[in-house]
Amino acid sequence: MRDGKNECGQEKPLHRTDYGIIGAKPQSEIVAEFAAFVSPGKVDVYRALGFDAVPGRREGVYIWDLEGKRYVNCRSSGGVFNLGHRHPSMVVALKSALESLDIGDHMLLSEHRAKLAARLAELTPGDIRYTFFTPSGGEACDLAIKLARGYTGRPGIISAIGGYHGHTGFALSAGDPRFKKYFEPLMPGFKQVPFGDAGALERAVDETTAAVIFETLPATAGILIPPDDYYPRVREICDKAGALLILDEVQAGLGRTGRMWAIDEWQVVPDMLVLGKGLSGGMYPISAVCYRPQIDEFLRRDPFVHLSSFGGADLGCACALAMLDEICRPGFLEHVSEMGERFERGFSELKEKHPDLVSGWRRRGLMMAFELKEDRLGPMMTYALGKNGVIAVFSDFRPKAMQIMPPLIIEPDEVDFVLDAMDRALSLMRKMLADGVEIPYIP
Ligand SMILES: Cc1ncc(COP(=O)(O)O)c(C=O)c1O
Repeated sequence: MRDGKNECGQEKPLHRTDYGIIGAKPQSEIVAEFAAFVSPGKVDVYRALGFDAVPGRREGVYIWDLEGKRYVNCRSSGGVFNLGHRHPSMVVALKSALESLDIGDHMLLSEHRAKLAARLAELTPGDIRYTFFTPSGGEACDLAIKLARGYTGRPGIISAIGGYHGHTGFALSAGDPRFKKYFEPLMPGFKQVPFGDAGALERAVDETTAAVIFETLPATAGILIPPDDYYPRVREICDKAGALLILDEVQAGLGRTGRMWAIDEWQVVPDMLVLGKGLSGGMYPISAVCYRPQIDEFLRRDPFVHLSSFGGADLGCACALAMLDEICRPGFLEHVSEMGERFERGFSELKEKHPDLVSGWRRRGLMMAFELKEDRLGPMMTYALGKNGVIAVFSDFRPKAMQIMPPLIIEPDEVDFVLDAMDRALSLMRKMLADGVEIPYIP
């Protein structure tokens, strides 16, 4: 198209502005199109879970489907929407960055990458200083493992049983058999140990171990919380063997637990901290590995040994800087803790009221697992919550643990709405069980 004319010489507006339009077709047609051209399998799964709705308008803690039904998003895409949907500061940040920036060239130097890395160096624990940016969390975990092998010259990587670090090569190798069983043989040198058991870790780590990689609070395993002395012992075990400690805070970091970093609770400094999801403020993909200065000795030898065209895109850096300003505002982390406590009081009432279905909960800040009595109840609760206006999923590797991960900006009346919906969902589940209605367990 040249001079405002298309190939046929007809007048055509230079810029179309309707690419982001929502609801151009009825929801049922979009579901059919998704099934026809993206994934019929996913449509089947969402139908079974009663959630074959298409998210349309989104604002704050809410998503509306294309038929106008409103949901509180208690999935938050695992933390991508820590600031909720389309947080006003994030919208302004991205729009204004678009006035001057694009993705940038990852091979060249970058003002915005430097500024964001310097900010992260201020905020991350201990002497963590350098940051390497990637688009996704999986790629960041891959890179952390590569850095560990490159720096130590050792092959061994130890991760947690039920850990989840993404679907790329090294990250997948460190993960659970559920996602890797079809793709064997994967990377050699990987071992898994039970999470929270320092003795098991001590037995597994040796002079061939490059790194131990854990999610600080393993989310997909059901938001597990280790004993108080666990991380200090993990740090000691790694130090004794000369192995590095990589903590994956893709979900648990950036204020989710009511602390800037989940590991702050244990006052342990990892050698590398992996960030993703919420780092973009829900606006632009960006993830990162932040690491201690000595690890850079390896990259100094060849700073181009790992490359990523979209890693640390200038637009993403601008969004991340805006997101960090939001979560560093006075009172932000206190708000997360207060909302978490409000949920916890509600969970306690729900357990009392529904003792046949609820067995307990685990929680740090707004990183919460609401645990049911049996695995098959997890998919059923996802279904029943959907019917009551809340999106929440069960943990993949522990389906009885519902993940309740609302945006961190959730307000007290919204917390109460979710708790009410959980109450109604549990009553609906009891009725479904009495009527013999099953939601197929979807692994
Ligand atoms: C703890 C953790 N690490 C890594 C990843 C992978 O991130 P991404 O999906 O951006 O590759 C995820 C994604 O859910 C995650 O939860």
